[in-house]
Amino acid sequence: MEILSIAVKVNGQSHRLQTFPNRRLLDILREDLFLTGTKEGCGIGECGACTVLLDGEAVNACLILAPQADGKEILTIEGLAGEGSLHPLQKAFIDHFAFQCGFCTPGMLMAAKALLDVNPSPSREEIRQGLAGVLCRCTGYTQIFEAVEDAARVLSKIASASSTPRKEESR
Ligand code: FES
Ligand code: FES
Repeated sequence: MEILSIAVKVNGQSHRLQTFPNRRLLDILREDLFLTGTKEGCGIGECGACTVLLDGEAVNACLILAPQADGKEILTIEGLAGEGSLHPLQKAFIDHFAFQCGFCTPGMLMAAKALLDVNPSPSREEIRQGLAGVLCRCTGYTQIFEAVEDAARVLSKIASASSTPRKEESR
């Protein structure tokens, strides 16, 4: 089988990789780049554990073949936190006990990020629909939905604080 050369930007870092065309984005992330935070559950697009952002859109990495990722930007769970600080979604998941075994959590967080990127203030129903592609066998979902609502509030406070001009200090 022919070997392909593909270029991907993962969590802000550019990589050129040699790969067989039938390998999946999930394989490239976990086996070539050692980004094992992205999990494989079903391997057939059913569970969402492998959710990553591909050019900003939530996708199942087990369903994307290497040539489809060529030239694209990918964000995985390893790229979600900022320098030295958790992303508000990660913090909210901890605060709300929104995981148990944690196997679905990277996929949940990435799907939640994709949702809040386009809908910063989603209703409970919109969160339910936004996360519908990721299955959790442990939590019962309520804490996950509450965590996403909490993170949405925090992110909107951060956004409004950064868009408000600072008052000049008066003495
Ligand atoms: S491992 Fe990709 S959807 Fe289940
Ligand atoms: S926390 Fe176990 S599958 Fe979701």
